[in-house]
Amino acid sequence: MTFTNEMIENEISRRSVLQYALAGGVMASTGLIGSAMAATKPVTAKTINRQWILKSRPAAAISMDNYEYRETPLGEINLKDGEILVRHTIFGMAPATRVAMSGGSGLTVGMPTGQIVRGGGVSEVVMSKNKRFPVGSLTMGVGGWEDYTIADGEKLTQGPLPKGVDPIDLMSVLGGNAQTAYIGMTKIGEPKPGELVVVSGASGSVGSVACQIARIMGAKVIGIAGGAAKCETLMKEYKIHGTIDYKSEKVSEKLKQFAPDGVNVYYDNVGGTIMQDVVDQMAHHGRVVLCGTVSSYNSGNPAPGPRDMLGIVTKEIKMQGFELPSYMKERDTTVAALKKWKDEGKLIGKVDIREGFKNLPATLELLFSGDKEGTLLLRSDA
Ligand SMILES: NC(=O)c1ccc[n+]([C@@H]2O[C@H](COP(=O)([O-])OP(=O)(O)OC[C@H]3O[C@@H](n4cnc5c(N)ncnc54)[C@H](OP(=O)(O)O)[C@@H]3O)[C@@H](O)[C@H]2O)c1
Repeated sequence: MTFTNEMIENEISRRSVLQYALAGGVMASTGLIGSAMAATKPVTAKTINRQWILKSRPAAAISMDNYEYRETPLGEINLKDGEILVRHTIFGMAPATRVAMSGGSGLTVGMPTGQIVRGGGVSEVVMSKNKRFPVGSLTMGVGGWEDYTIADGEKLTQGPLPKGVDPIDLMSVLGGNAQTAYIGMTKIGEPKPGELVVVSGASGSVGSVACQIARIMGAKVIGIAGGAAKCETLMKEYKIHGTIDYKSEKVSEKLKQFAPDGVNVYYDNVGGTIMQDVVDQMAHHGRVVLCGTVSSYNSGNPAPGPRDMLGIVTKEIKMQGFELPSYMKERDTTVAALKKWKDEGKLIGKVDIREGFKNLPATLELLFSGDKEGTLLLRSDA
């Protein structure tokens, strides 16, 4: 189907941009719409609402001690006019969740302890006193890591998702992470045809889209990822030109082989030693897109900057950070460009879907162990 601006306006909340950005980013056609729109299960006062609470801020790597798991009956639900009760069906897993657990940074607002872990996803309306959100409709960006949330539908700027649209697409190919890749690559990296682009976290939700956009723009693309399987996917499915498996290969040496004349654009998702290795190999007038530093989020230490600032001066390198919500005005054109590439078959992606509400903390961990590919989602059993 064709997305009109009006539909996209409906799909993505202006107010909860960041929650939407938390929701995911690569593209996929999963056929999940059937399960996301499964017949509404009855909700009674005895229905259990499971919740994951942020008990304490993690000092370094997050552990189960930082969470509290609760099960509470919903009790009698007496919705006020305008309110809806939603059941959360699909959760998006995002590194920003971990940043928010530590108190936040920039536009990622810190999560208060003692409250439900915040996170984006798809929710089904199960009770409604709001004509805009009929029972059975789906919406995004409401609530957090719990089964059920009561929301004031009058205050939600996002409407229900249009019928017939796979919500997984809205969490992946048209979602916040794909938009992030688009903005970072087209507005900051700006690769020219024939230039050499390196992307770290290349098989991830943002990274795999960033790789493909650079390829579509005519660049030669090298992706850095952990493990042979991810590197094979990058070559065969995302059709980039070369890979570096940072877990088994020396990044600095491989870079010299791939980029004897230097790297023109580096799209950095990870920071740390990988960032240092690539920055050391930048070409004159290179551009470094600072998208995130996932290697540091679970370490308790801030990501260090590059060690040779004079090298950056003398090579006249541009390094620029950015946050997607600052580019809201570009949203419609960004989504339209991604949609066009998807329809043309130029942009493909993978979604890694785990199961079971109780597995939310363990699934978040996979972002840091790397034991997943593409956009990581969790389908609830509520
Ligand atoms: N600026 C913005 O507006 C914005 C918006 C969204 C996301 N982001 C950032 O974009 C980056 C990617 O986010 P995402 O949602 O797409 O996550 P993701 O890449 O799908 O998942 C994280 C990946 O990071 C890699 N990784 C984890 N620890 C690492 C380490 N120590 N060293 C190297 N690689 C490591 C792992 O892949 P491997 O197995 O390959 O190592 C893992 O799969 C994050 O830094 C995130 O904060 C920024």
